[in-house]
Amino acid sequence: MVSWAITGATRGIGLGFVDNLSIDPKNQVFAIIRSRATAGPLEKLASKRKNIQIVVTDISDPSRLAEAAADVSKITGGSLDVLILNAGSAGPETSVLPPTAFHGKEEALEKEINENVKNNLISNIFVINSFLDLIRNGKEKKVIFISSQSGDVEFTRVTGFATVLGYSVAKAGMNLVMSKFSAELAQEGIKTLSLSPGWVDTDAAKAVTGDPAVRKFVLSAFRKLDPNVNGPISVNESVTDQLQVIRSLTEANSGKFLSHHGNHDEWF
Ligand SMILES: NC(=O)c1ccc[n+]([C@@H]2O[C@H](COP(=O)([O-])OP(=O)(O)OC[C@H]3O[C@@H](n4cnc5c(N)ncnc54)[C@H](OP(=O)(O)O)[C@@H]3O)[C@@H](O)[C@H]2O)c1
Repeated sequence: MVSWAITGATRGIGLGFVDNLSIDPKNQVFAIIRSRATAGPLEKLASKRKNIQIVVTDISDPSRLAEAAADVSKITGGSLDVLILNAGSAGPETSVLPPTAFHGKEEALEKEINENVKNNLISNIFVINSFLDLIRNGKEKKVIFISSQSGDVEFTRVTGFATVLGYSVAKAGMNLVMSKFSAELAQEGIKTLSLSPGWVDTDAAKAVTGDPAVRKFVLSAFRKLDPNVNGPISVNESVTDQLQVIRSLTEANSGKFLSHHGNHDEWF
């Protein structure tokens, strides 16, 4: 059995990981969610596949996370092979603004940055530290952070993608945090990776790029990097590609930030 825990598993990419992995009965899959309100499709899947366990917790609360880790531990006998930090969101409505638009809106700027850092960075550190003893006892010893191409300096430089400021800062910051975990834990055989999933057709992508005018603008920006990009890829394609990169994670590439193609320049 290989055990996997995925946060943000109700929808989109997180649910895609649960679906793809649980097809194989040799995988034990823990779907870590914050609420059952959006978990209808996940609950339906879990009712058909006995190797899916749903765990409800709050990734911003270390004491709730300790309970979640204890729940996982009871089933696996104290270990976890792969932890995927997938839960994330683009934060407040000010995410549509470029940096200069915050001049004179200092409170809004603080909210834009702080909310994103709390949800997309600090909570992920809580999750890693809460599950670390289980990972130490696991066979694979892998911690994966689902990052974003918008947290990459070169992607931003070439595309001219100036919005989702706090989200991009939080993703870039968390990429570095993952390198720090790798640096600290390499001697224990623990490997980390920040992984961009591509531009993927999910609720989150629809919220940011669903409006036709925004979509046109985004496509023209993205085509400066890749003239062949036509729109988001399916969840299934993204998850299949990401799992290939996760499976090939070794000590040699631990701590890196890679795209779903396993490199640092093909972001779509
Ligand atoms: N789609 C893309 O093109 C794209 C591109 C780059 C990076 N990503 C990253 O990929 C990951 C998954 O995104 P997605 O596109 O699948 O988004 P999605 O369809 O909106 O799903 C997001 C998932 O994360 C959960 N979540 C969000 N904020 C949370 C929080 N504060 N605490 C706990 N759970 C939270 C949601 O739970 P609820 O159902 O309870 O809301 C949901 O399960 C995110 O980290 C995102 O930044 C996506």
